[in-house]
Amino acid sequence: MAMVCLSDFEAYAKKYLPKIAWDFFAAGADDCSTRDENILAYKRIRFRPRMLRDVSVMDIRTKLLGTEINFPVGIAPTGFHQLAWPDGEKSTARAAKAMNTCYIASTYSTCTLEEISAAAPGGLRWFQLYIHRNRAVSQQLVQRAEALGFQGLVLTADLPYTGKRRDDVRNGFRLPPHMKLKNLEGAFEVCKMSPLDPSVTWNDIYWLRSLTHLPIIIKGILTKEDAELAVRHGVQGIIVSNHGGRQLDGGPATIDALVEVVEAVQGRVEVYLDGGIRKGSDVLKALALGAKCVFIGRPALWGLAYKGEEGLQDVLRILQDEFRLSMALAGCASVSEIGRHLVQFSKL
Ligand code: FNR
Repeated sequence: MAMVCLSDFEAYAKKYLPKIAWDFFAAGADDCSTRDENILAYKRIRFRPRMLRDVSVMDIRTKLLGTEINFPVGIAPTGFHQLAWPDGEKSTARAAKAMNTCYIASTYSTCTLEEISAAAPGGLRWFQLYIHRNRAVSQQLVQRAEALGFQGLVLTADLPYTGKRRDDVRNGFRLPPHMKLKNLEGAFEVCKMSPLDPSVTWNDIYWLRSLTHLPIIIKGILTKEDAELAVRHGVQGIIVSNHGGRQLDGGPATIDALVEVVEAVQGRVEVYLDGGIRKGSDVLKALALGAKCVFIGRPALWGLAYKGEEGLQDVLRILQDEFRLSMALAGCASVSEIGRHLVQFSKL
């Protein structure tokens, strides 16, 4: 089977993954309207391409908080990579390093932070945190990540409780017994309550700040009000995200929310986006609307399910090639030439 675009990897994963794993990866909350809207919203945006602009030499590199990456697509944090491939997050780390991009490792990884670091020494990695009810557990995780050379701390803000994902409920989804949330071993005693702390507020950013020198990036922001609060609380970056439509169903597509967040932030911190990125032209639209970089969630899992590290590299390479081509066809030779003038919202 020729793997030409990301949908080919999706079809492969759907066919070959155990149903319970596929359903977990694919799930959105409730009737999945926000999950689907993340993708549909790109189709309402049209390019205003420019012509005759010498695109013989293309520069698609960018910087994330000062660190150069080969192209503006990183890997969003997703849990349980061993459900997709036996080496799990170690393969993800290797693929990200090979493609010189950023991998945000989840609190819910099935490999330890130490294993992830050792798999791809020197790769650009951020650590994603869910704050635990037992704050000592979170403190220790953050400090472990910093000591291991992770370069950013991503606080996920949109999961005080887990959204209602119907297929996971129907399937009685849980990790197979041979897989573990290795970073939380010992801390994650079987308990009736979720171990995640739903009482987290903006003040906890100050608490995180007291624990680490790492830049703090907040993930899950969808409004100008929260964007303003994030800047005022001293974060270095914002990821516009609705958790791939897995949390509150009925919220906006992230590409639509991006516009108001970027306007509110006025360049004071970097703004990124995840959700629904499936083509290089989606990346171009997000950058045109002010994102510095985008991240992929499910497509990375499809790549892993296809061929582990190699499969994920294939996914990234396809997005990279499509992005370069879209840029060239729109008349941009470098990412610095991408701007708001490049897109219009269709009335369809
Ligand atoms: C996620 N996401 C997520 N986010 C996070 O902050 N920590 C996590 O552990 C997870 N886990 C997770 C598992 C799975 C299976 C999915 C699909 C998503 C959300 C993720 O970071 C990202 O916001 C979305 O996946 C982006 O949407 P796309 O690219 O999947 O459309």
